[in-house]
Amino acid sequence: MVSFLIAYASWSGNTEEVADIIEEILKEKNIEVTSYRIGGGVIPSPRDYDVMMIGSFTWDKGATPDEVKDFVADVGYKPENVYVFGTGDTQFGGDALFCSAAVKLAKFYESDYAPLRIEQSPRGTQEEQVVKWTEGVIQHWTNLQE
Ligand SMILES: Cc1cc2nc3c(=O)[nH]c(=O)nc-3n(C[C@H](O)[C@H](O)[C@H](O)COP(=O)(O)O)c2cc1C
Repeated sequence: MVSFLIAYASWSGNTEEVADIIEEILKEKNIEVTSYRIGGGVIPSPRDYDVMMIGSFTWDKGATPDEVKDFVADVGYKPENVYVFGTGDTQFGGDALFCSAAVKLAKFYESDYAPLRIEQSPRGTQEEQVVKWTEGVIQHWTNLQE
């Protein structure tokens, strides 16, 4: 069975909501999923999974939260097949800083699939974006296996 790790950081719950939707979709497709909230307990090893997804909110003028930086450092290497999602808010610096933690993580992990950027809560009109992005990830990864 294909296995995905979803590692995410969330302060006020928006990124957690995105992670939850992604988890539901993956499970519907019979993919084994482990969700890990960054900062909470023993860090899973991405080596135990086929794919790592990493999600983050963006902080202070486009910054990546410290706990996410710590997670990246603790993992200690760059796994292949990393897909990135994030939530943010354009009122903190327009498009230039919108979800820039997710953008920076995607660059760092050399993800060749565009990161998902959600404004605040994904519930409602943006939920469809999460669904499409997740289905796209599955397709992208499946194509890589052929
Ligand atoms: C002090 C502060 C600074 C923020 N800076 C940014 C930013 O630079 N870029 C951005 O896209 N969002 C920024 N945000 C918005 C959060 O990333 C956004 O609310 C996010 O959905 C929070 O995720 P969470 O609910 O998972 O913690 C900022 C929020 C706060 C409170």
